[in-house]
Amino acid sequence: MAGVHGHGATHVRDARQYGDLVAIADPRPPEDVDVPVYPSLGELLAATEVDIVVISTPIQTHVPLAELALRAGADVLLEKPPTASMAEFDYLSKVLAETGRACQVGFQAQASAATLQLARLVADGGLGEIKGISATGKWLRKAGYFDRAPWAGRRTLNGVAVVDGAVTNPLAHSTAAALLIDGSLGVDDIRSVETELFRANDIESDDTSTVRITTTRGTSILIAVTLCAAEQAEPAVIVHGSRGRAVLNYTTDTLELPDGSQTLGRANLLQNLVEHRADPAVPLYCSFAATGGFTRVVEAIRLADEPTPIPDTFIRWQGEGPDRHPLVHDVEHWIDRAANELSLFTELPAPWATH
Ligand SMILES: NC(=O)c1ccc[n+]([C@@H]2O[C@H](COP(=O)([O-])OP(=O)(O)OC[C@H]3O[C@@H](n4cnc5c(N)ncnc54)[C@H](O)[C@@H]3O)[C@@H](O)[C@H]2O)c1
Repeated sequence: MAGVHGHGATHVRDARQYGDLVAIADPRPPEDVDVPVYPSLGELLAATEVDIVVISTPIQTHVPLAELALRAGADVLLEKPPTASMAEFDYLSKVLAETGRACQVGFQAQASAATLQLARLVADGGLGEIKGISATGKWLRKAGYFDRAPWAGRRTLNGVAVVDGAVTNPLAHSTAAALLIDGSLGVDDIRSVETELFRANDIESDDTSTVRITTTRGTSILIAVTLCAAEQAEPAVIVHGSRGRAVLNYTTDTLELPDGSQTLGRANLLQNLVEHRADPAVPLYCSFAATGGFTRVVEAIRLADEPTPIPDTFIRWQGEGPDRHPLVHDVEHWIDRAANELSLFTELPAPWATH
């Protein structure tokens, strides 16, 4: 395990459940663990033989750590977003080809039976002609979230790409799931990416954005997300078909179809990687190659102009200290409209986007 605090705690539990946790690498050593702890993955790999390295560390460390693990002969479960640029994606693809190892990426919604059933329904024409796919994310993140680590809310850190924005990191599963549902996971499956990035927080990256992806099969995928909502809501991926609408809630594995709704289960990404190692005929739910399309979106956001600050007149601040957070005026309404009309914020137009 590389990186055990934050989201890494979930992986520590999974590692104990689906394998044997043999060692931990983290510059901030955890307390009360019964396995050796090293300050770096290099030191861990020099001292320990491991089958799988789980990497749940800051985005800008993903590629160097994954390369270390792969060259040491391990397979990797790498957290999302796997890389911060297309160049890094191409580089790690080469390392994977050279080493012949496997890499699963931590997009757990890709292992949801609800996501996969919706993808099959779309592919089989069950929703008729697809007019578009949209994804909404209305989350509330407080100052403590951005203050937890030096890389949080950064586009770059010490000249290295991080791209930690609403679309590419906290709500990244929305884009990944929408691409899976369209059957457009690969690097060559994306025709264009239009970005409109805004921010209410005093951060470098975007916290309120619309992005329109046009896939090579011609689908418009509209992502509309914010971290500045009045309250936390379940993210949704919506398929607009000529025979009706389907809504996926990937955090609860719930699928709402024109004829009713159902909650399905999900597979575990680490367990799936363990099974893939034992039998390569078992496919990975989210191979590194299957994040190429997603990385085209990361690259577009990395190359986009800096996010536009939302004027103060459209922001209401609540809470104090680590609980302080902005509410963007009517942001929920504009996100729903962007999703329903497959439109960018300035096309609607949301008043704070054109001010
Ligand atoms: N799949 C999901 O739903 C999900 C949810 C949250 C975060 N994440 C991803 O998990 C990763 C970590 O996010 P976080 O929010 O927990 O970050 P964080 O900064 O809160 O924690 C990162 C952890 O990595 C450790 N670390 C830093 N540099 C390291 C290094 N070089 N080697 C080993 N350990 C190192 C830190 O000490 C810390 O324990 C990110 O890629 C993030 O996008 C995924």
